[in-house]
Amino acid sequence: MSDALSAKQAVAHYAAELVEDGMVVGLGTGSTANYFIDALAERHRQGLACVTVASSVVSTIKAKEVGLPQQAIEQVTQLDLYIDGADEVTPDNMLLKGRGSDLVREKILARAAKQFYVLADHSKLVSHLGENYPIPMEVMPFAWQLVLEQVKKLGGTGQLRPNASDDGLHMTTYGSLVLDVFFADKPDMTILEQQLNAIPGLVEHGIFIDLASGIVIADKQGRVTIRH
Ligand code: A5P
Repeated sequence: MSDALSAKQAVAHYAAELVEDGMVVGLGTGSTANYFIDALAERHRQGLACVTVASSVVSTIKAKEVGLPQQAIEQVTQLDLYIDGADEVTPDNMLLKGRGSDLVREKILARAAKQFYVLADHSKLVSHLGENYPIPMEVMPFAWQLVLEQVKKLGGTGQLRPNASDDGLHMTTYGSLVLDVFFADKPDMTILEQQLNAIPGLVEHGIFIDLASGIVIADKQGRVTIRH
């Protein structure tokens, strides 16, 4: 088992212990979130009552497979807890998310949850957002070129994300296309976030600021700490 794998499992198991009886729990998307779904299902089989709300079709299917009770996102007004992974995490707990699909849904759940804990193995820790990955931006399909022009004015260069088989474009559950955008200089993410929020046709982006209640971090040895 690789270091990253055991670290992902370690944070997932730790987070499953944060769930209390009767909670409404948001389920993230990705390999780390999948370990959490497995760990939560184990606690559910042992008698823990909970209802889950999935952040994607993938996590909906996964939760169904392991027998977790689910509620549609349309039916909830608040979540007690949302647990998800991230692509990058900075020392001040800014997140980059959206390498998977449906980042708009991830951000909605993060905002709706009383507590949002992020699962991060050591490979996710960066000094600034954009260090390892482009910044994903969900865009309305007809507006993608207009949005990209606005993003270029902010110093970004990007392209539409291809689908998994690389013979077409990736499309989110809600029919958005995704622009993956690089910034050569290290922009102030707090300012950039506001600038991106103001672009019409840009549905949502992967910069998550002031949303995480805490980061559950595992080092290479699988030792877990929470950073608030
Ligand atoms: C999904 O859109 C992302 O925000 C995920 O949280 C991210 O890609 C984490 O994936 P892994 O847990 O597989 O690293």
